[in-house]
Amino acid sequence: MGSSGSAAASSRPIGVFDSGVGGLTVLRALGAEMPRERFVYLGDTARLPYGTKSPETVIRYAVQAADALIERGVKALIVACNTASSVALPAMRERYRDMTVIGVVEPGAEAAVAASRSGHIAVIGTEATVRGGAYQRAITQRRPQAQVRALACQMFVALAEEGWTSGPVARAAAEQYLAPLFGPATPGVGESAADTLVLACTHFPVLQAVIRSVVGPRVVIVDSAATTARAAHSALSERGLLGGEDAARMPDRMRFLATDGVARFAAIGGRFLARSIDARDVELVDL
Ligand code: DGL
Repeated sequence: MGSSGSAAASSRPIGVFDSGVGGLTVLRALGAEMPRERFVYLGDTARLPYGTKSPETVIRYAVQAADALIERGVKALIVACNTASSVALPAMRERYRDMTVIGVVEPGAEAAVAASRSGHIAVIGTEATVRGGAYQRAITQRRPQAQVRALACQMFVALAEEGWTSGPVARAAAEQYLAPLFGPATPGVGESAADTLVLACTHFPVLQAVIRSVVGPRVVIVDSAATTARAAHSALSERGLLGGEDAARMPDRMRFLATDGVARFAAIGGRFLARSIDARDVELVDL
């Protein structure tokens, strides 16, 4: 299903989807990396969170979201959601064989392996991301000796949605989750503590400061948004799919679709995109 190789393909928008607003951190990185591209972003806000759902449900939701974007003529699909990338990417690549489909797991794993000197790498994400093991596999495929510890930090999603990205509650949650992996008082941590931490969830970059305050200054924090944007740029370039439009002439450069609450999408999404979103620019869609 889908096609991406026609002559007019390069002028079509790039489709980006996530379970909600968190993937706007990835859209932001994509926009900075490819200033001449147009994007359609779909946030499946009615069904967030994906992170606590079964693999079957995540695959079904991801396919419905991708179908909706393909109907809108996108030339490539970026799966910004770590849970959907971890669980549904093989099914999506199978279904959309002619479409460039890029997830966040492989670029994130690549960046983690490049950053880690000791090979001790920690991955934090949703329950489904951690349970599915895709990051763990992607890291050990690239570096078989790597020691990967993955931890579900589901509460971070709620904190980020609520805007509680700093302060005592965020700090307490970060300590509760991360001190066992990084805390100095933890038996056995010392030498084997991870030197690299992968933020394997769209929502976690907005908590980066509080996470940093717990893990300390020496740990490299990998945010897969920027690495995914670079991977998408080179994949589109290799396939001759890059657009050449002048960004200044693109008032509708980023279009937004949401499956629920356009006002809430605009209000909360602005935090993740780091610029305001007008609710009138968000279209309500039904999958
Ligand atoms: N977008 C999800 C992810 O990156 C986080 C929110 C959710 O659980 O749906 O894993």
